[in-house]
Amino acid sequence: MSYRHFLDLSDAGGDGIAAMIADALDRKALRQGWPKGKADADAPLAGHVLGMVFEKNSTRTRVSYDMAMRQLGGSSIVLDAGTTQLGRGETIADTARVLSGYCDAIMIRTDDHAKIEQMAEYASVPVINGLTDASHPSQIMADLLTVIEAGKPLPGLKWAWLGDGNNVLASIMEAAALMHFDVVAACPQGFMPSESDVARGQGRARVVGTAAEAVEGADVVVTDTWISMGQEHAETKLKAMWPYQVDETLMGKARADAVFMHCLPAHRGEEVTDAVMDGPQSLIWKEAENRMHAQKSILRWCFGQIG
Ligand code: CP
Ligand code: NVA
Repeated sequence: MSYRHFLDLSDAGGDGIAAMIADALDRKALRQGWPKGKADADAPLAGHVLGMVFEKNSTRTRVSYDMAMRQLGGSSIVLDAGTTQLGRGETIADTARVLSGYCDAIMIRTDDHAKIEQMAEYASVPVINGLTDASHPSQIMADLLTVIEAGKPLPGLKWAWLGDGNNVLASIMEAAALMHFDVVAACPQGFMPSESDVARGQGRARVVGTAAEAVEGADVVVTDTWISMGQEHAETKLKAMWPYQVDETLMGKARADAVFMHCLPAHRGEEVTDAVMDGPQSLIWKEAENRMHAQKSILRWCFGQIG
């Protein structure tokens, strides 16, 4: 069986991403109004099982990948690390080989990105990144779909990122290079993206000093929690982040038709105010739903059905 891993957006490249988004838009349109658990008419992954390994918490990734498999005609199994032998020290390599015997694909959410690379090395089925400390490509596929769906073709857009220079930003920077838009990040000293993350943008990603500079004329405004999973909840970090909070005043500096996105979960009143979260420019609920639609296309791409 031919298959591909989806560890980062660069695995698919710009053409692959464009093909997946086109597929997601088509499939989403075809099933408007259907019950959520009803399979697509062609059930392209009938009989396929996705094993989902979680070494960190999840709501969206867990449910959206499960529903994606159901809609493609397949099913999924959730493995929480704490209740599997991974939690007692069985290696990633051995787990990869065992799960490859039961499952047709593996999705893993973990901390160290090297673990997902090891999973891919030892698995004999496709491995998908469901978030690591380094990147979150599944999320950004949904974000790209959401922006396009909002009537904004990606090339030439300005995305503004506010707050922590984290894993989600790293994948946006990678997407910027692949899909030809610019991302301007405003992050406090000590919490900026690494040089290698900025380099993923291949000249289309940069870091500026103030929130106002980042959002000036932006088409898309994005933020994320100030404290990612696995990080300490440090008061010093929160204090450094306050000037980067997305509120209505900051949104007012972006283009009048700018949209707001957040991968969720949000810490309302920290990185973003209720007024922006629930305001007319917010796409957060569509963005969350699009996790499922985008991931159906990621799964199909992994099995060589797209691109
Ligand atoms: N955005 C996202 O990945 O959400 P979960 O942590 O709930 O999966
Ligand atoms: N940056 C966040 C994203 C959560 C979906 C984290 O890693 O916890």
